[in-house]
Amino acid sequence: MTVTRTPAKHFQPLAIGAPEPFRTLPVRLERMIHFVPPHNEKIRAKLGDMIKKVDVILGNLEDAIPATEKEAARAGFISMAQEHDFGSTGLWTRINCLNSPWALDDITAIVASAGNKLDVIMLPKVEGPWDIHYLDQLLAQLEARHNITKPILIHAILETAEGVNNIEAIAAASPRMHGMSLGPADLAASRGMKTTRVGGGHPDYAVLADAGEAGAPRIAYQQDLWHYTVGKMVDACMAYGIKPFYGPFGDFSDPAACESQFMNAFLQGCLGAWSLHPSQVDIAKKVFSPDPAEVDFAKRILEAMPDGTGAVMIDGKMQDDATWKQAKVIVDLARIVAS
Ligand code: GLV
Ligand code: MG
Repeated sequence: MTVTRTPAKHFQPLAIGAPEPFRTLPVRLERMIHFVPPHNEKIRAKLGDMIKKVDVILGNLEDAIPATEKEAARAGFISMAQEHDFGSTGLWTRINCLNSPWALDDITAIVASAGNKLDVIMLPKVEGPWDIHYLDQLLAQLEARHNITKPILIHAILETAEGVNNIEAIAAASPRMHGMSLGPADLAASRGMKTTRVGGGHPDYAVLADAGEAGAPRIAYQQDLWHYTVGKMVDACMAYGIKPFYGPFGDFSDPAACESQFMNAFLQGCLGAWSLHPSQVDIAKKVFSPDPAEVDFAKRILEAMPDGTGAVMIDGKMQDDATWKQAKVIVDLARIVAS
């Protein structure tokens, strides 16, 4: 029996380069965390095809699952875990929050019946490191009891004002920490923000351009409501060697806005986002795979400075040790996508 509270040390060092902070986590593409409602038999019936299209399948037990279907969702998740071979696709679940009537049964039943298939538990409404410590200890006990050979990792959703306040302690709370996702809907409510949207911008969150000619309309530039929190999350995650993700985008009728929100998160350092609808899978795949033209340019930087030091000009742009490191992030990611 292999049981430990320090899962990170089980993992092999990377065979190929990856962004520096992720050296102790398994190398896996996680460009989209694809949410499915496990109590829905029609969706479960199509799961085999979906497993081939996505990087991660997540069985959702929390919000969006009616209270009357919580047990059915848990049972459905266990069946889907047992019935399918997930190959290189990750298998995650989002359990109910720790102070709900369902969380304990979610954890105990799923680890007992599907613990050897499960990669990650997504924990909603995390407020501080104490939430992670509780789940960490419980998982250690259950892994020992059920002979789980691969430690189950924890992914926190950043969706309360208190959680944002304690973000660094959450990131550092356990070697089981896989990463964090921004949960803009719950976070908006927790902060008292005045929006009913799930992620994305808001037309009234804008800055007016300077006044032009008298009588000419003033241009309003819409701003990114989530810029501050995504930046804070990326810094906390990178500082503690875990992975940052953007969460949900709720307006399925606006793929362009979804792509733009995902792209902002990608450029700021996030590795993936949630897909709540099949139409968002390809958006996430495109956005979170580096642009080929950017990869070609990054390769030229690495080639021009083989030892990563000095300064060169490429196409009129100055490159030095720092841009070499920026280029390496992009080239390493491209290698992982290609492998
Ligand atoms: C996700 O759970 C969110 O609240 O946005
Ligand atoms: Mg939420």
